[in-house]
Amino acid sequence: LPGALAAAHEHVPTEARAADGVSVTALRTPADSPGAVRAFELTARHQEVTLASGTTVSAWTYGSLPGPELRVTQGDLVEATLHNADIDAGVTIHWHGFDVPAGEDGVAGVTQDAVLPGDSFTYRFVATDPGTYWYHTHQVSADGVRRGLYGTLVVLPPTGVPEDVDLTVPLHTVAGAVLLGDSDTAVARSVPAGASVRLRLVNTDQVPHRFRLDGAPFTFVAADGRDLIGPTPVTGKSLRIPAGGRLDLSVTMPESGVRLSSNASTEAVLSLAPDGAVIPGPVPEAADDLDLLPDLDLLQYGTPGGAGLPAGDGRVDATMVLDRNPRFLGTRPVYGYTVNGAVFPHIPSIEVSEGNRVRLTVVNRGWDTHPMHVHGHHVLVIERDGIRSTGSPLWLDTFDVQPGEVWVVEFVADNPGIWMDHCHNLDHAAEGMMMALTYR
Ligand code: C2O
Ligand code: CU
Repeated sequence: LPGALAAAHEHVPTEARAADGVSVTALRTPADSPGAVRAFELTARHQEVTLASGTTVSAWTYGSLPGPELRVTQGDLVEATLHNADIDAGVTIHWHGFDVPAGEDGVAGVTQDAVLPGDSFTYRFVATDPGTYWYHTHQVSADGVRRGLYGTLVVLPPTGVPEDVDLTVPLHTVAGAVLLGDSDTAVARSVPAGASVRLRLVNTDQVPHRFRLDGAPFTFVAADGRDLIGPTPVTGKSLRIPAGGRLDLSVTMPESGVRLSSNASTEAVLSLAPDGAVIPGPVPEAADDLDLLPDLDLLQYGTPGGAGLPAGDGRVDATMVLDRNPRFLGTRPVYGYTVNGAVFPHIPSIEVSEGNRVRLTVVNRGWDTHPMHVHGHHVLVIERDGIRSTGSPLWLDTFDVQPGEVWVVEFVADNPGIWMDHCHNLDHAAEGMMMALTYR
């Protein structure tokens, strides 16, 4: 473990530490005032979970399926203690999309060792950036996340969100069951007509999903935890979310209600209606098949503006060519998902210095979609396949590079550490599609 990273973990004064045995509790009141210490205890364990449909699945959880939603306010000190009850493979918590100091990033083998049964580890970071995030294990992560080691993290702005109702809706497939939120069946919630609702959609699966919201126009208000500028109402579009990505949308409740569904399941559907009833069958204006709806193009949505990318200090150009290539064991080919022709850890890292402006070109030469995830930084999308982003500045931490596509993104290296950049189809990452960005 590099010394700088070990030291980064000790950046919080000891008086800020929580007492043991505190569960999802504010240690200072009011809990939502800036600067409060928010202590959480999460215990990873094997758990038989009976889903809403009655199906029982053998899961690995952080105490529930999904893990508890951690909801804090900007400025809070998050102090999350992870215990491992009985996951022999070991566990960590990676704060997906939240740009923590490197020592809190939860990457087993890089920023910490995996937490073994009987051990624990406390993560501490200040909730600097409001938005929708999620957390998951980063130790044998393809297996661990798929089995249920995931949950959501929401950081509220100090004044709260403008909507009246705020719901987080992760979509996850576990043992063949699709959970929308915590249910694998149709769920209804009562929301008064005229109320505004924020839906935080989170794709915690390993493949992209397409969502639709029927019953009223909606606006996209944030992508990957960053607000969009100039959002306008949309109807008749589907929302494609890459593996690991998040989209927040806002809708005003009509009398007849709205319904959220996805390509992943015809059962796990969320209805919001003034009387709290499940909206049966196709909603009137939504008879079309999801496959026939065009995806909203986020690169052209909203209006330009905002502070833009800082000029930075020195330029770095880096390229990631994604493919699937054989290596030869004798004459026997062993296929792996590769970056620049090699598999992790045999891929030279991207070397940057603090303050460098980094231009990253990601080329997909293979046949699979690769949801590229960048740790520690949000990247500004410049162009996809030569088409420039002309809408709201789009700051993402996870972007879907489809077969044949070329994405150009930029960011300023402002978070020292060793960071993983990898495909969030975690099976691909496990086969080698993962590289490091390191600060010299
Ligand atoms: Cu959500 Cu490195 O992962
Ligand atoms: Cu991939």
